[in-house]
Amino acid sequence: MSLSNPHSSIPPNISSTPTVLLNTGAQLPLLGLGTFQLRGPEDTLQAVDAALSAGYRCFDTASVYRNEADLGRALRHLLPKYNLSREDIFIISKLGPKDQGIKAREGALRSLELLDLEYIDLYLIHWPGTQGLGVGDLRNPKNRALSWAALEKLYTQGRLRAIGVSNYTSGHMKELLEGCSVKPAVLQVEFHPCLAQEELRRLCGENGVCFQAYSSLGTGALLQDPLVLQLAQACGRSPAQVLLRWAVQQGIPVLPKSSHQSRVSENAQVFDFELSTEDMERLGEMDCGQKYCWDPSQVV
Ligand SMILES: NC(=O)c1ccc[n+]([C@@H]2O[C@H](COP(=O)([O-])OP(=O)(O)OC[C@H]3O[C@@H](n4cnc5c(N)ncnc54)[C@H](OP(=O)(O)O)[C@@H]3O)[C@@H](O)[C@H]2O)c1
Repeated sequence: MSLSNPHSSIPPNISSTPTVLLNTGAQLPLLGLGTFQLRGPEDTLQAVDAALSAGYRCFDTASVYRNEADLGRALRHLLPKYNLSREDIFIISKLGPKDQGIKAREGALRSLELLDLEYIDLYLIHWPGTQGLGVGDLRNPKNRALSWAALEKLYTQGRLRAIGVSNYTSGHMKELLEGCSVKPAVLQVEFHPCLAQEELRRLCGENGVCFQAYSSLGTGALLQDPLVLQLAQACGRSPAQVLLRWAVQQGIPVLPKSSHQSRVSENAQVFDFELSTEDMERLGEMDCGQKYCWDPSQVV
């Protein structure tokens, strides 16, 4: 993985937004808009408009978010306003746990159809388990393998430009790395100062897999943390900017979600300041294994 221009002070646009080089050769923007819980054509249009205006060029959706059609429509409508084309945008979507296994191809094709796209830039297996199966059910690993094989085929056919996984533990990752023909390009997991994910980061680094963060703000909970508030005040930035900067300063792509225009813009202003080594370390010391989202550790 190589990092291009992570400390740029130029306002973000497609040529200046810092990116991470994926093992496919594609550039993944360090900043993307999260869209979980963004629902309905109007709200989606407003958030995407605010994001494009603030310089976001990456959007993260998923089958389970039920907003793929709204996101696709919003982008088609708004790209001309910003003089952008499809190639300027990086779209991430994910295979729903209900489609894990033999239905994976169908699930991925449905995402393409709902987004109304010829290709998706990055498609992830959302969760190591299968909806309807217990966490200890031995059909889980079989279904993961079937899903990956389906994604590999769609990757080879060019409909998915990169493929990866989300919420995989190091055990799930090792199983995948041993059995795959196409290496995953990305692992997307929960990551913030209270959840440093050192083992997964090391594994990704050793295998050329890009480690991508979700819930960098701790789903909002870390915005009230006393140390985050103290550092934000000291550097004249917002708590959200401190948390996002902590990740991007380590070269880790983030996907903050907000449905407020001012916050979408605020969350993009993270490439024009630096946290000191000491502040980075103090935030790193918050690691306590705290998860605010789902926990995949019990899925066999
Ligand atoms: N792969 C997975 O399993 C997975 C799981 C979770 C998330 N994700 C992805 O990652 C994205 C982000 O994660 P997340 O939505 O869980 O949490 P997050 O980005 O850590 O936090 C979002 C929350 O923080 C608030 N917020 C955002 N910016 C703010 C700001 N500048 N000031 C104050 N509050 C702010 C938002 O409220 P408002 O909207 O009201 O502003 C929202 O409640 C998701 O949308 C999704 O795309 C992926």
